[in-house]
Amino acid sequence: MGNIIQLTGLSGSGKTTLSNALFEWGHQQHVTVKVIDGDVYRQTLCKDLGFSKADRLENISRLGAYAGSIAADYDLVCIAAINPYEEGRNKLRLKYGALLIWLKCDLKTLISRDPKGLYRKALLPDTHPDKIHNLTGLNDTFETPALPDLTLDTEQLDPEEMLAYTLSFLKNKQLV
Ligand code: ADX
Repeated sequence: MGNIIQLTGLSGSGKTTLSNALFEWGHQQHVTVKVIDGDVYRQTLCKDLGFSKADRLENISRLGAYAGSIAADYDLVCIAAINPYEEGRNKLRLKYGALLIWLKCDLKTLISRDPKGLYRKALLPDTHPDKIHNLTGLNDTFETPALPDLTLDTEQLDPEEMLAYTLSFLKNKQLV
């Protein structure tokens, strides 16, 4: 099995930031890192999928299958998606040995950051045409990870610290 890590966390919790930092670190250290970002693959491989439970599970399943198919070509493959269901996370763990990193952040902080304006839209009145009705963490499910291999408290940690904790975790596991 290749070295696949799966991130999980709400929108704005830092998944893309951490995976890009891993990629940059890899570039400098000659460690090949492939980032599979949910937002990116929802434009291509997963373009047909929405945000129902079934579609989110299918999304993570496809990202996992893609990660599995390229894992041998990289030192590390990092899947960065909200990945809100234990069923999806456990499937990737069982099928591909993907370790789980939880980017933990409370909703209040995310609402105040809101770089994409998604939380603002989810908080609109029900009748508003721009309202998002199924935003993870606000009006859709995010199952608390029962057994994450690493939890990063992204309210407390800045991006550099998040990278440092992740690297020391990966080095401990002899994954990088
Ligand atoms: S997942 O739940 O299937 O793992 P994924 O990470 O691929 O989600 O996609 C999440 C991205 O889709 C968010 O970063 C956000 O930009 C966008 N998005 C649009 N609508 C929603 C929604 N209802 N819930 C979550 N993310 C949404």
